[in-house]
Amino acid sequence: MRTFPDGFLLGAATAAHQVEGGNVGSNWWVHEHDPALAAAWGIVEPSGDAADSYHRYREDIALLAGLGLNSYRFSVEWARVEPERGSFSRAAVDHYRRMVDTCREFGVEPVVTLLHFTVPRWFERDGFWRADDAADRFGRYVEAALPVVRDVEWVCTVNEPNIAAMLAGGEDASNLVAHGLPNPDLHVADQLLAAHRRARDVLSQVPGVKSGWTVATQAFTSTGEPGADERLAEYGHPRDDWYLEAAKGDDFLGVQAYTRTFVGPGGPLPVREDVETTLTGWEFYPAAAADGLRSAWELTGGVPLLVTENGIATADDTRRVAYTRAALEGVHDCLAEGIDVRGYLHWSLLDNYEWASGYRPTFGLVSWDRETFARTPKPSARWYGGVARAGALP
Ligand code: NOJ
Repeated sequence: MRTFPDGFLLGAATAAHQVEGGNVGSNWWVHEHDPALAAAWGIVEPSGDAADSYHRYREDIALLAGLGLNSYRFSVEWARVEPERGSFSRAAVDHYRRMVDTCREFGVEPVVTLLHFTVPRWFERDGFWRADDAADRFGRYVEAALPVVRDVEWVCTVNEPNIAAMLAGGEDASNLVAHGLPNPDLHVADQLLAAHRRARDVLSQVPGVKSGWTVATQAFTSTGEPGADERLAEYGHPRDDWYLEAAKGDDFLGVQAYTRTFVGPGGPLPVREDVETTLTGWEFYPAAAADGLRSAWELTGGVPLLVTENGIATADDTRRVAYTRAALEGVHDCLAEGIDVRGYLHWSLLDNYEWASGYRPTFGLVSWDRETFARTPKPSARWYGGVARAGALP
């Protein structure tokens, strides 16, 4: 029996655009509905109503709590809070505040993300992250969102800035890991870091808040061939390590890990044909979480860590249990090594809109009906709920 420490978060995560539905003010809605942009991004279907979690969040939080999970990571949608430049929606802020209150009502610890990839249409129109005032605009939005997080302990500023900077590079990014990662736009990377720091500054007004960004750790692994280690360092640093190092001194760092990528002397290699893959084409590699924690711990010099995402897209729910069990064993090993891990948030609570790949890759512990929106917990949800309830892996 592997027991997790008292207060350890064992929960699940979602993000607004991927589950709420009707996120019409966001740049991704624009991409989904503009034929040229949809083709350029390789978007297979629009998000539409998604899981209608914007209206059904109470049911979702109650379900999560009923399963036994103790924490819920969700995101605030900037496009709803600031639908036009400088016009803020009190109703949207109230909505997300009610989500925090609902978490508390059900004894669930809220983990709130302020930016999960999507930005308002007007922000993209006005220059996106390349605009000179981008960090400033983000800071104003965070100020407007302060009532949502006024008593929240865990606040994630920017989700996967490393992936966002790679997406901003404009190369084909329809399946990031399977095709190798595009070159990051280093100016956007700097702007995202400025936005993160600006947000941390604004959040420092809230007593007790812990803020940090969440980084996609890629578990880049050298093939060991001559030249591979050098290529790995060159390839991995601007895609991964730079973001971990930048979190030095933050209150925490979120680690988001799914798979690994081998790097040889010629660069990243496609997933091998003889390994088990998931619905996103990624190698089934549950040790990714522990690998990410170890490198985050080392590169930050000991910043407290949260696994803010880890999971698997599969239609075979028994593989979700196997993956999650092995990932949690790895997290437990990290705790035993003295790494300060505060929690694990499984991606995802619900089957979700997986960006360009649409609804086919199912990451959820819970499925839902596309017409009635009725939720059905999968066996993995019951299994993981049991782990969370016991605070231990049997
Ligand atoms: C990372 C992203 O934050 C999330 O939006 C995505 O759905 C999952 N990984 C799975 O790809």
